[in-house]
Amino acid sequence: MMIYDADIICLSACFAKRLKRARIGRPPSELFYRCGIDKMLSPRFNERRDIVKIEKNFFDSKASMYEQLDERLAEIIGDGGDALSVLANASALLNLFLADINWVGFYLMKDGLLKLGPFQGKPAVAEIRPGDGVCGTAVLARATQIVSDVHLCTNHIVCDPDSASEIVVPMLRGDAVLGVLDIDSPCAGRFDEEDQTGLERFVDRLLDAIC
Ligand code: SME
Repeated sequence: MMIYDADIICLSACFAKRLKRARIGRPPSELFYRCGIDKMLSPRFNERRDIVKIEKNFFDSKASMYEQLDERLAEIIGDGGDALSVLANASALLNLFLADINWVGFYLMKDGLLKLGPFQGKPAVAEIRPGDGVCGTAVLARATQIVSDVHLCTNHIVCDPDSASEIVVPMLRGDAVLGVLDIDSPCAGRFDEEDQTGLERFVDRLLDAIC
């Protein structure tokens, strides 16, 4: 199976090994997880001249993808910056790591409304009231919402018509809901409990850093 060779300009021994492991015995359909590993977010990786650029990298499992995501998030947080910068980089990071998504970003609670924060994707609705849409539902429920098919969801606000499924994780601190992480996918049923666990941990770490 040579389809990924064109994607790889230069590969370190470590990533070559991982990619080889991922390719052996697995059809491409099982290689869901990708990330851009040009490491522009990591000064430490920039020092490694053997990694010039890898357009795609495949993880063995969703669990290992979320572990790597956690490590990169820790690097971003370690780089400093204010809350807005960290959230902007966090949305970029999620966009690199998560396969099959078309929108990822934050809505932040201000004056009783969810206001559009840093995101990657098409322009989106600027304000959402608690209770409205999947985002507003997550606020009132104070719990993660997974919608497998947005077309069957009566309380869904369309931002990108390509979206087919969605996960919304509330950003909870004490009694307060500080906002939500919202991710859309063009694939129905894209998000499961493993995503919920990984993304809730991601949001927790983010809030530890910026609150
Ligand atoms: N679909 C969301 C609205 C935000 S966009 O997806 C970016 C909702 O129903 O709340």
